[in-house]
Amino acid sequence: MRHGDAGRYGEDAFRPEETGEADRIDLGALAYDEVSTARLTALGAGPGWHCLDVGAGTGTVARWLLESADVTSVLAVDRDTRFLPTGRPPGLVARTADITAPDFDPGRFHLVHARFVLMHLRSWRRMIARLGSLLVPGGVLVLSDAVDLTTATAPATPYTAVMRAMWQALRQSIGTDISWVPDYPYFLLEEGLRSVAAEIHVPPLVPDSPLNRFWADTWERTRDAILATGQVDEPQIELARHALSSSESAGLSPGMLTTWGWKPQRSAGAAHP
Ligand SMILES: C[S@@+](CC[C@H](N)C(=O)[O-])C[C@H]1O[C@@H](n2cnc3c(N)ncnc32)[C@H](O)[C@@H]1O
Repeated sequence: MRHGDAGRYGEDAFRPEETGEADRIDLGALAYDEVSTARLTALGAGPGWHCLDVGAGTGTVARWLLESADVTSVLAVDRDTRFLPTGRPPGLVARTADITAPDFDPGRFHLVHARFVLMHLRSWRRMIARLGSLLVPGGVLVLSDAVDLTTATAPATPYTAVMRAMWQALRQSIGTDISWVPDYPYFLLEEGLRSVAAEIHVPPLVPDSPLNRFWADTWERTRDAILATGQVDEPQIELARHALSSSESAGLSPGMLTTWGWKPQRSAGAAHP
């Protein structure tokens, strides 16, 4: 791992070539897809929509948009598209690109969606502006990222300590910063989007569930960085892993905050929807 602030998602953690990385992303998707797709349904995703999914991962949302919401097209962009076959289903185009690159300009869309992506980027605030600028008038920007519930008054358990250490480790290694996520709705307003709203979903931790397996796997892949924080030791990690697989509640999972906002229509006074 490189030092200082040079680390990046996919290079210094969560490398796509590591065995099981697609499965790890899918476990996270399984835990949150129901909420994402319900929100996209409520926002009206459907025929005629051209959609952009950035940091699309294994493409569960992109595929759902085409197969279930019946949107017209989805451009799924990721810096590594090995988990995203173009044309399956029809209408899906996978493009390999770094969304932070200055020349990233994939077109204009009715829906721009990014889930669990911006929090891993140091340029997340610039990217909110950039993604908002990719909307057609009347289009909607939908951002989802993690909210940590291991607050100062959360119970002092191995689970809580390891979860806190994990966020610190990710911050130090690849720059992940979730401290701004509750402010995303304000940033959408700053970008001129209208009818801005947000919701937080906190799924339960259930032994053997996709979510519990996702966190156990994520800790495993970041174990060295977690230990390097000095906040926890190996026995504490083992106790926390045990808590995730025991019938007694481990605590609270990080939540997912989803915020959305509409680009105003051209005509004065037009409001969405
Ligand atoms: C945690 S995964 C989320 C995947 C998917 N959005 C989901 O929620 O299931 C983050 C994804 O963002 C991609 N990513 C990270 N940085 C990126 C960048 N600068 N440009 C494009 N994709 C990026 C990663 O390759 C990875 O597929």
